[in-house]
Amino acid sequence: MTIIDDLKKHEGHIGKGKKHDLERLHKHLSIVLTILGSGRHRVAYIDPKNPGMVLKVPKSFRHFKDSISEVWQYQRQQAKGPGGHRRLAKCELATIWGVPCVLMERVSYVKPDDKLPDWAVLIDQREVGYDKDGNLVAFDYA
Ligand SMILES: Nc1ncnc2c1ncn2[C@@H]1O[C@H](COP(=O)(O)OP(=O)(O)OP(=O)(O)O)[C@@H](O)[C@H]1O
Ligand SMILES: [Mg+2]
Repeated sequence: MTIIDDLKKHEGHIGKGKKHDLERLHKHLSIVLTILGSGRHRVAYIDPKNPGMVLKVPKSFRHFKDSISEVWQYQRQQAKGPGGHRRLAKCELATIWGVPCVLMERVSYVKPDDKLPDWAVLIDQREVGYDKDGNLVAFDYA
């Protein structure tokens, strides 16, 4: 069992509006996992023993909805089948201490001189990378 599987099983629950509890969750995650990156609204963690997956955890209650939105967009893409205008990195919802988080495949980042299709160039901050099969995917589409 991975550390993330273990975290999902934990019974702890963060009360709505309990900012201190959310900070405690981040403190705990920064100890048991490794921080991969941090955006405006989420911190991305990895388990070094399972480095192919990224756990994205909201920094504030206002951004809990980002997790729902990202996973919903991915599921909608899957339901539509291939042929959409862009590809989204595979992800699923992971509830940790009652907080909706996103468990996403880890991508390898594009290089500055990589030739990108129009849809990718238009993505804010070029948050696209390659999945394990080498497909170009967006990794921040909350
Ligand atoms: N699937 C992934 N693969 C590799 N790195 C990732 C992935 N998802 C997130 N990251 C890293 O974690 C950082 C923060 O994640 P993300 O951009 O999703 O957070 P955010 O707070 O929504 O960002 P923003 O500030 O752009 O709104 C990213 O900039 C990137 O470095
Ligand atoms: Mg981002």
